[in-house]
Amino acid sequence: MDEGFPGGDARGSCTTLRLAIVAGSTIAFAPLPPRGCVVLGRDEGCDVRIEDRSVSRRHAVLHVGPPLRIEDLGSANGTFVGEQQLPGMTARTHRLRRLSRDSAEIGIGERFNLGATTIVVGRAPAEAAAAPDCCAPADVVVRAPAMLALYEQAARAARSLISVLILGETGVGKEVLARTLHARSPRAGGPYVELNCAALPPSLLESELFGHEKSAFTGASQARPGLLESAHGGTLFLDEIGELPLAFQAKLLRVLEDRKVLRIGGRTPRRIDLRFVAATNRDLEAEVARGAFRQDLYFRLNGISLVVPPLRERVAEIGPLADRFLEEACRQLEQRTAPRLSPEALAVLEAYSWPGNVRELRNVIERAAVLCAGDSVQPADLPPHLTSGGAGPLSGSAPPLSTPAPLSAPAPLSGPAPPLVRCGGRSAGWAESPAHRTAARSITLRSSRTFPGQEYASRTASASGERRGAVR
Ligand SMILES: Nc1ncnc2c1ncn2[C@@H]1O[C@H](COP(=O)(O)OP(=O)(O)O)[C@@H](O)[C@H]1O
Ligand SMILES: [Mg+2]
Repeated sequence: MDEGFPGGDARGSCTTLRLAIVAGSTIAFAPLPPRGCVVLGRDEGCDVRIEDRSVSRRHAVLHVGPPLRIEDLGSANGTFVGEQQLPGMTARTHRLRRLSRDSAEIGIGERFNLGATTIVVGRAPAEAAAAPDCCAPADVVVRAPAMLALYEQAARAARSLISVLILGETGVGKEVLARTLHARSPRAGGPYVELNCAALPPSLLESELFGHEKSAFTGASQARPGLLESAHGGTLFLDEIGELPLAFQAKLLRVLEDRKVLRIGGRTPRRIDLRFVAATNRDLEAEVARGAFRQDLYFRLNGISLVVPPLRERVAEIGPLADRFLEEACRQLEQRTAPRLSPEALAVLEAYSWPGNVRELRNVIERAAVLCAGDSVQPADLPPHLTSGGAGPLSGSAPPLSTPAPLSAPAPLSGPAPPLVRCGGRSAGWAESPAHRTAARSITLRSSRTFPGQEYASRTASASGERRGAVR
C-alpha cells in the first residue's frame, strides 16, 4: 500500500488521486473522491462517463480504498488488470488478466483496461487542488479575476431559490452561467428547461410556456404540459427575456408571484416549484424607462443580477478558451492530434476586440482547425479582419450592451463577503449541451459528481508529456 494514499489520511482532508483515461490519442483526467465507489461506464448516470464504444454502459466500479479495487460489472469487452509479476517476467511479457464480475486490487500508477480504454490511477498535481476556477464546471474556462468573482457569486446564489438575471453582451457565456447555476444548485437533479423568448412568435409563447388542456383550441387533440410545468423541481431559463412581448409580460409576472400555472383551456391552476433564471443582452433598466419592459416583472426576475464581462475584458481567458475550442474542433473533425496555437496567432487573438465575444472566438477557432495544415495554428489561419489592425468589421459598431453596472435591485446576497464557496458535491453534475458532445471515438468525462477543489482537464496526449508519465 502506498503510504501517501489519501484514504489513509485520518483527517480525510486531502483528495489527491485522479484517473488518467487514455483512448486513442486522447487523454482526460477525472478527480477521485477520498473514499467510496466510483462507477465507470458509458451511461449518463455513471460517476465517470467514458464515451468509447468498447466501454459498456456500466462497465466497472472503482472502490477507492484503501485498498484500491477495480470490480467488473459484467462488461461486454472486459476489465483487464496486470497479472502479478512472476520472477523472470519482463515488461514485454507482462500479461493481463480479465475480470468477469469479480474484482482485483490495484496500486497507484498501475494501469487497467476497460475494453480498449486504458486507465491509470495517479496523483493529482498539487495545482489541481488549488485550481482557481473551482466554482466553474470542468468545461467552462474561468480565469480572469472578474469571472472568478462572478462564478463564486453564482455559486452562492445557486444555493437559494432566488431569481437570477444574467446580463452581458451577446456570446459572453450567459447560457453557460445559467447552466452552471442549475448544476450547482440543490435542484441539480431536477429538470433544466430553456426557452429562448426571441425564438417563438407571441402566438406560440403562451401554449409553449403554459401548456394546454385537451380541446383547448383547434388541433389540441391531447392535453400537454407547458415548459413551466416541465421545469417543476428544477430551473427554467428564459433566454433573451428582453424580447418578451409586453402583452405577455403580465402573464409571466403572475406566475412568478403565485407560483401557479393555469393551462390554456384549464380550470384548476397547478402549483409549480421552480427557480427562474433569465438572461438578456439588452439594458433592461433602459427598456423599463422607455416603457418596453414592465418594471414589476423586472424586479421579480432581478432577485440578483450577475453581469458577465465581455471577452475583451478577459484577455487572460482567450488562450485557454482557444486551446479548448481547438481541441474540441479537432475531435469533431476526427483529427488524431490537435494543432497548437502558435504564439503569433495567440497575439492576434489577444489584440482583437471580440464584439461577438466567446461565440465569435469559437467560430474563429473552428475555422482555423479546418484550415490549419501544419501542427500549429498560424495568423494566416485566422480570418483576415483579425489581422488587419485588430479591429473587426463588427468592432466599430457598439455592442447592444457594454458591461452594465450591477443593477440596483434587491441584493440579498450583498453585505460582508462570505467565506470562499467550495463547489461540488454529489449533486453538482454538469451537463453539456448535445452540441458539445464529442465524437464517439473520443472520450468525454462527464462526472455526475465533482469533488471539492478539483477540476477536470482534457488534452491530447501528444500535446503534453503527461501521457508518457502516466501510462507505461
Ligand atoms: N467560459 C466559457 N468557457 C467555455 N466556453 C464558453 C464560455 N463562455 C461561453 N462559452 C461558449 O461560447 C458560446 C456562447 O456562449 P453562450 O452562453 O451561448 O453565450 P450567450 O448566452 O451570452 O450569448 C457557446 O458555444 C459556449 O459554449
Ligand atoms: Mg444566449
